[in-house]
Amino acid sequence: MSFEDELSRKTDWAGKIISQYLPKEEGYQATVLKAMNYSVMAGGKRLRPLLMAESAVLFGDAGKITALPMFMAALEMIHNYSLVHDDLPAMDNDEYRRGRKTTHVVYGEGMAVLAGDGLLNYAFETAVKAFDTAESEEDYRRIAVSLQILGRKAGIYGMIGGQCADLEAEEKAGSVTEELLMFIHEHKTAALIQAGMMIGAALSGAPQDDIQRLEKCAYNIGIAFQIQDDILDVTGSSEVLGKPVGSDEKNHKLTYVAVHGLEKSGAEVERLSREAIDILSSFPCRNRFLETLVERLIYREK
Ligand code: IPE
Ligand code: IPE
Ligand code: MG
Ligand code: MG
Ligand code: MG
Repeated sequence: MSFEDELSRKTDWAGKIISQYLPKEEGYQATVLKAMNYSVMAGGKRLRPLLMAESAVLFGDAGKITALPMFMAALEMIHNYSLVHDDLPAMDNDEYRRGRKTTHVVYGEGMAVLAGDGLLNYAFETAVKAFDTAESEEDYRRIAVSLQILGRKAGIYGMIGGQCADLEAEEKAGSVTEELLMFIHEHKTAALIQAGMMIGAALSGAPQDDIQRLEKCAYNIGIAFQIQDDILDVTGSSEVLGKPVGSDEKNHKLTYVAVHGLEKSGAEVERLSREAIDILSSFPCRNRFLETLVERLIYREK
């Protein structure tokens, strides 16, 4: 099977798992449930749950980890909540995502705020269901560790912290440091990618120092992913991306591209990704699919 076929098969598989954990659109709160599902079912690359499952493969038989599907769905819910809020007029004010109108355009701003809140809360409701599948003390321990990772990487010391700095930096263009630039990229984007890879490893029983090496690997993948997102915001096409180009310039965003230019940004995506692949290939069990995926992300166009 070609890499492309395998990727598309695995993306569909992740999408099916996620859809199994979404709420039924019923009751007096049906509208917020529809808005939640509208966002999550619009597709997307499903990168974070895929990285989770592939990181689990590095340390054992991922098919046997009963908690894995719940954490895959939970992480994708958190990712989608971050996007629903990121697109709001009060933040990036964008009207298209994945080729469709953004959630607030379809359901209104109030409902989009609630849909984001709902996805964040339901993510944790879904992840704690994993305890129902635990059969041993060790299972409980791995799920507890995974919940800690998910909470921290999504929260004020993770993605929310990064989005805070990203918003404030709009006013600071010109007087920014490299340290702030990297803080934003690490927290708003790398944090959820780290959550995926670290949880995959933790559920698979990886030792703590291996989880830490994957955290560094995912840091590189995450920073490279955001720099490439910022490159595509300049050089990409809205038809291919499914979201507007020029959003960062419109919002005076502090991006790697704005500070260092396109050429240096492209080189940095490549350097960070190669270093991440070196880390992956240093584990005793190689996952060639995961290594190729990280390599392909260097050249992604959407
Ligand atoms: C978009 O993430 C937000 C960023 C962190 C750049 P993705 O590019 O993974 O979005 P989808 O889920 O594939 O649409
Ligand atoms: C998004 O960064 C990071 C999030 C945590 C949502 P961007 O604002 O660049 O993402 P896009 O370009 O809207 O997908
Ligand atoms: Mg943003
Ligand atoms: Mg945005
Ligand atoms: Mg962007």
